[in-house]
Amino acid sequence: MTDKTIADLIEDRFGLPTEDGRDMPAEGELAALLRHRSHRRFKPDAVPDELLRVVLAAAFSAPAKSDLQQCSVIVVKDPDLRARLNALIVGQDWIPGAPSLLVFCGDNRRIRRISEARGKPYPNGHLDSFLNCAVDAGIVLATFVRAAEAAGLGCCPISVIRDRIEEASALLGLPDHVFPVAGMGLGWPEREGWVSLRLPPSVTVHTDRYDDSTMLAEVDAYDRRRDARFSTPPAQQRMTAEYGVAEFYGWSEDKARQYATPQRKQLAGFLKSKGFGLD
Ligand SMILES: Cc1cc2nc3c(=O)[nH]c(=O)nc-3n(C[C@H](O)[C@H](O)[C@H](O)COP(=O)(O)O)c2cc1C
Repeated sequence: MTDKTIADLIEDRFGLPTEDGRDMPAEGELAALLRHRSHRRFKPDAVPDELLRVVLAAAFSAPAKSDLQQCSVIVVKDPDLRARLNALIVGQDWIPGAPSLLVFCGDNRRIRRISEARGKPYPNGHLDSFLNCAVDAGIVLATFVRAAEAAGLGCCPISVIRDRIEEASALLGLPDHVFPVAGMGLGWPEREGWVSLRLPPSVTVHTDRYDDSTMLAEVDAYDRRRDARFSTPPAQQRMTAEYGVAEFYGWSEDKARQYATPQRKQLAGFLKSKGFGLD
């Protein structure tokens, strides 16, 4: 039992006062969702195979587009393979310390093979096929995070694996129509971690019609709230050679700098080489 309410957890998450959920005790799945945090530092203890299978079973209980179930997960067990993948995931010093590594893949191969085995055409190899399997993999990934946290584990997805998508796919033996959406580092959290402030619902939730007329002002206020909770030290600012050391360095400046250089431009070419039609 706890004296906290769901409203307290929403306030923690958004840094804004609310009375929503004031009568609801901070318990159960809603509370766990609101308490979510990524973990990147782990105790050295291994994750038992049985527990990992339980968490994966829960993750694959996620809904899937048309019940096609277009996600596959590679559990990396071989130490040599693991070391090679670690080396591919650059700029992420926490990866080698994660006791388990998994890779969540969009898998459009299965339905294609089934169609062929059932003697049917598959005239759907266009962008929607790619989107559906990418979304399925994302939903399984998000459900995995929830399941892992429910089991007391901690984890963090790894999109950086896509920086070297060709090499990662080759190491994992991914055939045509299967591609990595994200890796996942998993283990027993070494620290409690912290709740990362989210954009306010006034920015992300629209009623009836999309409206971002106040977005920039709201993001500015969000930057200030975030900075009050955790200020990025000057040494952690990105691209200071190009943009200097900002006196105030908020989330929006960080994200704008992050996306000021091209990232993963090779993705479309790689996906086409794996047979995906992106038209
Ligand atoms: C698809 C996806 C890919 C991600 N890739 C990375 C990554 O490569 N490296 C990393 O440190 N965190 C990664 N993250 C974690 C995000 O940075 C994290 O979710 C975000 O900062 C919010 O923090 P929180 O999860 O603790 O609330 C990823 C998250 C998602 C959903």
